[in-house]
Amino acid sequence: MKHLAIFPGSFDPLTVGHLDIIQRAAGLFDEVMVAVLHNPAKKGTIPFDERLLLIRKACSGLPNVQAAAWDGMLADLVKTTGACAVVRGIRDMRDFDTENAMACLNRDLLPGLETVFLPTLPQYGHISSSAVREIASFGKDVSAYLPESILNDVLPYLK
Ligand code: PNS
Repeated sequence: MKHLAIFPGSFDPLTVGHLDIIQRAAGLFDEVMVAVLHNPAKKGTIPFDERLLLIRKACSGLPNVQAAAWDGMLADLVKTTGACAVVRGIRDMRDFDTENAMACLNRDLLPGLETVFLPTLPQYGHISSSAVREIASFGKDVSAYLPESILNDVLPYLK
């Protein structure tokens, strides 16, 4: 049986920190599905479909990584796909608190649902999609924070 892991997020936009987690998850699991989901707490800047295309482009060199959009709860996506785990990156203790609560809630929704936390590499620990959007909105350089392969596609959305 192949082990599928789901890496869910808003990816608005995908950052170098996200891409690092995807690459590391791809080395741990047979298949990784990068899933674009709605975060009810976030408004969203880049159109949903475009985020999906950007992820596919950035991950085109990773044969066991696929991308999908899901308009529902994460637990239902895990159930539908038969995934063995959800992967989330953890930057700091604040992330841990939030993600630990989410992992517990998801397990309540789907008993047995496992969430695997991968510690963010130190060089990416300060990067977030919201910070990238904010810095870019002031016209500053965010190229260090975005995968090079999608940089030119992302920038027009952040102006
Ligand atoms: O990149 P983000 O915004 O931190 O990702 C959060 C996301 C999209 C994974 C989370 O909001 C989510 O799972 N949304 C779908 C609805 C859901 O299942 N919520 C979990 C309730 S505990």
